[in-house]
Amino acid sequence: MAKLKTIFHCRECGASSPKWLGKCPTCGAWNTFEEEVVAAPKAGGRSANGGLTPSRADVPQARPLVEITGQGPERLPLGDDELDRVLGGGLVRGSLLLVGGEPGIGKSTLMLQVALQLDTYKVLYVSGEESEQQLKMRADRIGLSTAPCFILTETCVERILEQAGALQPDIVVIDSIQTLYSEEIESSAGSIVQIRECAARLQQFAKTRRISVFMIGHITKEGSLAGPKVLEHIVDTVLQFEGDRHYDYRILRSLKNRFGSTHEMGIYEMQAQGLRQVSNPSEILLSKRETLLSGTAIAATMEGLRPILIEVQALVGGATYSVPQRSATGFDLRRLHMLLAVLEKRCGFRLTQKDVFLNIAGGIRVEDPAIDLAVVAAVLSSGTDIALSPKDCFAGEVGLTGEIRSVSRIEQRIAEAERLGFERIFISRYHRLARPAAEMKIKAVQVANLFELFRNVLPKEAANRENDAPQE
Ligand code: TYD
Ligand code: MG
Repeated sequence: MAKLKTIFHCRECGASSPKWLGKCPTCGAWNTFEEEVVAAPKAGGRSANGGLTPSRADVPQARPLVEITGQGPERLPLGDDELDRVLGGGLVRGSLLLVGGEPGIGKSTLMLQVALQLDTYKVLYVSGEESEQQLKMRADRIGLSTAPCFILTETCVERILEQAGALQPDIVVIDSIQTLYSEEIESSAGSIVQIRECAARLQQFAKTRRISVFMIGHITKEGSLAGPKVLEHIVDTVLQFEGDRHYDYRILRSLKNRFGSTHEMGIYEMQAQGLRQVSNPSEILLSKRETLLSGTAIAATMEGLRPILIEVQALVGGATYSVPQRSATGFDLRRLHMLLAVLEKRCGFRLTQKDVFLNIAGGIRVEDPAIDLAVVAAVLSSGTDIALSPKDCFAGEVGLTGEIRSVSRIEQRIAEAERLGFERIFISRYHRLARPAAEMKIKAVQVANLFELFRNVLPKEAANRENDAPQE
């Protein structure tokens, strides 16, 4: 009998080594190497790609670039505006996609819902996690249980491809890649070797048959479970479904997309009857306030090509411990430290002995630098205990000298704020606006630095108040 060969794989990046290593030389992670037993393909097994060797006509030939006609890929609209936008305008035929996310976030719900909404395309939904009855119950819950969608509960990749080959669907959904195994590999389902092998089979299948394949993959908070990370370079598109479990909002982002931009974001709300598309996020993310409270400011941010107005909340209080605490939810903590240092150094706003807590409403994480100005305004408002006008909003990046820098797509931000009934938007002095002020219902206040901002948002007497207010 042949000697069993073992190999070690890094759980994080998939690097392999013949020996166990404490630290991965490729990604630098510690204690991530796991042993895998590699067995040669069984005698009489199929060819290395599962019997999917392309016919002679399909074998690609080298061709001069000029001869290739520049037609974009064929796209299938999925009827879900959020998902279509994140994909860059529909699903590309023959592409392989990975939908990652923590367990329980709603990946199966999203994919089943998309599959059930489509009546123009044939969809095969393969579940290795739930039984047919469970899927039926879920479909009933979503309210689309009569849709023409095929369900297969199977985990063996060879049998799945056999069925899919016979059915000839337009789209295949695999829920989840961690449950799949190949008969030709003697390693347990969910191990890196299995995941990689099954994904490679699915990729071959997608490319040769021009069938789009969605693979669902679980990741834990630490991203420690084997799988999705290893797959990122095989697939065409990586979508991440995320959100705070305590909120109903779910955000779909693309982390990699060979057929579109990665800046787009889709927002859903988890309801009792499945996921609802949130096509107008600003209206939900802005809390309806009755009384004026200090410490909140509205930021006009962009997520991809879509403007979104988000509420920023700050709480500034006397430090309880000798080392003041700083915490940020939905915002980069280092950036908060930087903004506080700028407030202190350039504007004399004394924060060394203050605790500062920052929160972006709705459980959303914002990376747009234009949110800086709202963060500064919220901190200032809480520090002076003066509420800002609820009709003011902010869009600008703050530099280290306290200057307000211009940001991208300012016209769109202004238009969104105007549409939502804001009266003033604070932006950088360096913007050249296309529309004359007389044509706008909203007033664009152009400020050069933080002093000008303070002078405009705070009443005069507050600006002179000792200790709290900035001093020139
Ligand atoms: P699920 O899609 O099973 O998550 P995943 O596949 O990512 O592990 O969904 C998990 C949660 O969604 C579950 O806690 C129940 C909830 N849910 C709803 O609130 N409404 C619904 O209509 C459905 C189907 C699920
Ligand atoms: Mg699931």
